[in-house]
Amino acid sequence: MSAWKVAPSGPLLGELSVNGDKSVSHRALLIGALCDGPVEVEGWGDSADTRATLEAVRSLGVQVDDHGHGRLTVHGVGVDGLKPPVGAIDVKNAGTLMRLLSGICAMQPAGVFTLDGDESIRTRPMERVAKPLRAMGADVETTEGRPPITVTGGTALKGMEHVMEVSSAQVKSAILLAGLRADGPTTVIEEVATRDHTERMLRAAGATVQTLRDRVVIQPTDRLHLDRIEVPGDISSAAFLIVAATLIPESRIFLRGIGMGAGRTGLLDVLERMGGRVAVFNRRTTEAGEPVADLEVAHADLTASSIRGAEVSGLIDELPILALAACASRGKTRVREAQELKFKESNRLESVYEALRGIGGHIELEEDGWFIRGVPARLRGGTVNPRGDHRIAMLGAIAGLYSEDGVTITDPEAIDVSFPGFRSLIEAVTAERRR
Ligand code: S3P
Repeated sequence: MSAWKVAPSGPLLGELSVNGDKSVSHRALLIGALCDGPVEVEGWGDSADTRATLEAVRSLGVQVDDHGHGRLTVHGVGVDGLKPPVGAIDVKNAGTLMRLLSGICAMQPAGVFTLDGDESIRTRPMERVAKPLRAMGADVETTEGRPPITVTGGTALKGMEHVMEVSSAQVKSAILLAGLRADGPTTVIEEVATRDHTERMLRAAGATVQTLRDRVVIQPTDRLHLDRIEVPGDISSAAFLIVAATLIPESRIFLRGIGMGAGRTGLLDVLERMGGRVAVFNRRTTEAGEPVADLEVAHADLTASSIRGAEVSGLIDELPILALAACASRGKTRVREAQELKFKESNRLESVYEALRGIGGHIELEEDGWFIRGVPARLRGGTVNPRGDHRIAMLGAIAGLYSEDGVTITDPEAIDVSFPGFRSLIEAVTAERRR
């Protein structure tokens, strides 16, 4: 593993492209596998996480042709056609795969499915998904609340009404997917709406899924069918470039075809409040129901703005990079009620705090968030150890661009989990800094 030193940069200019959305890419494979017949996927985001999903569905007896450049053909085997593999399914680092697949395995007519993954995922909470699935009648065992998980198919599932205990699109999706083969409607009630990619894709595939205020209701179905899924650009990856262009004077970048799904665009709302300049245009909706748009981002001087409660779930994956924007804005930022960050690929409350503090950010760690004293100037720089977490590694890189001395990332390979092209993109767009 060799470290990556990111030098201070001048303006970011021009059109940049990001990988396909990770959440939608996982779902394209998982829901594609449940369709009748072939589904053509375009713009699929190739990364370590989504490769784990590709291998997982193959191990379940689904043929997937990889044509390269984000084009796949998923030969769906029908809602209940998955075959249990010999041995455990390796989800690697992918929490979305582990949780959604638990719901899918629970509604298969037979077989024992064991889901396991890497060291990091083995520390993540799984009862949040096992408990509601058990309440539906599924046979799900965790290992003291964590992976490996064993799901035994063939139990009769009851449609039920479930009130979410934590705000999680992964848990909601697992319940809805299990609901495809329940004996009646399944309802998920969420206090705060989370990303709705599963609902949109299932609807596009012919399932009856209704969203009414705080509840999502799915009716059981025998058949799903989709011809084509276009995966939008990943706003969670774009977020790093959006913040970089906002912070570095004279920057102006374009990002085309970025997913603007519900529960994903909170970063843009907060940046607008802070005085950011992100223009959104060419809004449209893909065939599989995903809203997309083009973005133009220009440098802006930011003023601090606090974040809490309902807003947190709409920018949960963007909070690390937003913390950098807060460090470089004028005024004090308090991020509250963000305790879910403790359960991500690393404990992100701690890893963001350590990363930013170590390179000169004025950030304090609190029980459920951070307190940040912004200084509208470049950070000093130094070293960031991402603790194997892709978003912390990318945070370190963007902080390096907006630093005086540069930032060394000790474990840049972590980035491959979501955005393998990130490093070459950053190396291509960065300009020499004129003083
Ligand atoms: C995701 C949901 C979120 C998010 C993760 C992807 C999804 O996790 O942080 O990166 O694709 O459903 P939670 O469901 O744990 O909030």
